[in-house]
Amino acid sequence: MTVAVLIGNPSPGGRTTTVGQTVGAAVADARGGDAVVTIELASVASRLFDWGNTDVAALLGQVAAADIVVVACPTYKATFTGLLKAFLDNFGNDGLAGCMAVPVMVGASLHHALAPEVHLRPLLVELGASVPSRGLYVLDSTMDSLDQIVAEWAETAGPLLAR
Ligand SMILES: Cc1cc2nc3c(=O)[nH]c(=O)nc-3n(C[C@H](O)[C@H](O)[C@H](O)COP(=O)(O)O)c2cc1C
Repeated sequence: MTVAVLIGNPSPGGRTTTVGQTVGAAVADARGGDAVVTIELASVASRLFDWGNTDVAALLGQVAAADIVVVACPTYKATFTGLLKAFLDNFGNDGLAGCMAVPVMVGASLHHALAPEVHLRPLLVELGASVPSRGLYVLDSTMDSLDQIVAEWAETAGPLLAR
């Protein structure tokens, strides 16, 4: 059983990656110790419009094969990044059927705190994923409290995402 942490940030290894991996670890823990794999979409950014590219196809397969996909993205212009959308556009209809997904976004402003629910959730549902828990929005100024923020979110979300 695998949790895939998909990072939709053009700048890899930033706060969004830390948030995604922290959520991924909490989800894996709630499920009794699933393996966690992190996928930085920045690594295939230049190939996303090369339809059928084998590197992109390999990542699509890895994501679709996961039991749970934690989709972690910075907030850009009040919504998710073009990088994330360009990757997910490579899926066919219902490309995430059979997966559960968790919408996670990081942003600088509380004005966009509903973005995981009103923007990212519909995209994941359109791809056929089941999204049983609340999404999570993390202010980038609250990284010092990240463990506590994720633990509080996981109290409710964990049982919904458990096997
Ligand atoms: C091009 C761009 C657009 C942004 N737009 C928003 C925005 O609309 N709302 C917001 O809260 N933060 C916005 N931000 C801030 C980023 O969401 C925030 O700095 C990022 O999530 C931090 O994660 P990182 O360190 O992993 O990049 C924007 C940042 C950039 C670079």
